[in-house]
Amino acid sequence: MTARAAITGWGKCTPPVKLTNADLERLVDTSDEWIIDRTGIRERRVSHVEVVDMAEVAARQALAAAGLAPTDLDLVVVSTMSPEIVCPSSACLLQERLGAVNAAGFDVNAACSGWVYGTAAAASMIAAGAAGRALLVGAEKLHWMIDYWDRSTCVLFGDGAGAVVLEPAADDEGVLGIDLGADGKAGRTMVIPTMGTRGSLTAERNPYDHYFHFEGQAVFKIAVKGMEASVLRVLDRAGLAPEDVDLVVPHQANKRIVDAVVKRLGIDPGRVMINIDTHANTAAASIPMALNDAVDQGRVAPGAVIVQTAFGGGVTWGSTAIRWGERTEPLGHSDFELPPCDKSVFELLRASREFFGPMHGKTNADAVPPE
Ligand SMILES: CC(C)(COP(=O)(O)OP(=O)(O)OC[C@H]1O[C@@H](n2cnc3c(N)ncnc32)[C@H](O)[C@@H]1OP(=O)(O)O)[C@@H](O)C(=O)NCCC(=O)NCCS
Repeated sequence: MTARAAITGWGKCTPPVKLTNADLERLVDTSDEWIIDRTGIRERRVSHVEVVDMAEVAARQALAAAGLAPTDLDLVVVSTMSPEIVCPSSACLLQERLGAVNAAGFDVNAACSGWVYGTAAAASMIAAGAAGRALLVGAEKLHWMIDYWDRSTCVLFGDGAGAVVLEPAADDEGVLGIDLGADGKAGRTMVIPTMGTRGSLTAERNPYDHYFHFEGQAVFKIAVKGMEASVLRVLDRAGLAPEDVDLVVPHQANKRIVDAVVKRLGIDPGRVMINIDTHANTAAASIPMALNDAVDQGRVAPGAVIVQTAFGGGVTWGSTAIRWGERTEPLGHSDFELPPCDKSVFELLRASREFFGPMHGKTNADAVPPE
């Protein structure tokens, strides 16, 4: 290891169209009260554009905050489980958009742990001298794979993107420790077969072949134990204790999961960044979006010790311990934005409702709820 990688720029992209709990009450048999009580979620965003469009907004903000041009980058990593196409990678599509002509690019898929795995990959390459300035983006368009007739999953997820720039740092700053792990056997609790080659080549897509299999309670239990153990390991590797942590930025899967993890760790809930109420679970994008909000809200002090921790499909888990640098203000700002959207949230969800409708005895006429 030659140099630690520190975060010098940050950004996020929140697509404009909201899907509120009241909207979901019109789609499935649920209630605002149940969703808030069981998950902490009030609303989430549904993207009208593709993953790389969102990634570009977040990336340009992060580059401006770091005071860098795209040509200064020599690595672009995109963590996603919802790439718009399989090849080229989202990282290479983004590299072209940005004009980051000096950068290598690849994607990371570790589901909701993708951000932590991506941080580990980029930071380790910087530490090894294989990369200098790296752009890491977490971006997801999860609504594309969710069944908006299924109340047990459709209330949980949202779309968005977050990004950071990582650069070699002074000895006492940057990524202080990394913990990664996986348990493929437990991976059967959460399976998203869509976008894979399994099955036969047919012109017609079959909703039964693309259905998201999800065992919420089993995942809940594995998540709490897995994240607690991972945070303890990463702190040990960094020579730190729970009381040294200034801010935990957890994956935003469920507020009850986060509350249980920090309680077991003995960390003051006031030191935990939560934005699940407005963003829901955005998989690999959730930690960088929450980190961006934390910096914007003045919750990251110079020299702060930040722990990022996540759990997700695979199953996978991971944590990083990071010491923030002296600068908490962006060096510059980007005005780059998504194009506006003229569709309602129900029109954006029409494709999902029409595709999965037959599994629930519904026709296309039922896809959009009446006014
Ligand atoms: C999904 C999750 C919120 C469900 O919460 P829960 O408290 O475990 O709820 P249960 O699954 O036990 O369901 C309890 C009841 O609520 C019902 N229910 C499920 N979704 C509902 C909804 N959106 N609205 C109303 N009722 C709902 C169930 O049908 C069940 O009813 P029943 O008792 O009559 O069978 C929770 O398990 C969870 O957050 N799991 C992990 C999240 C996750 O894996 N995220 C992705 C990976 S990071």
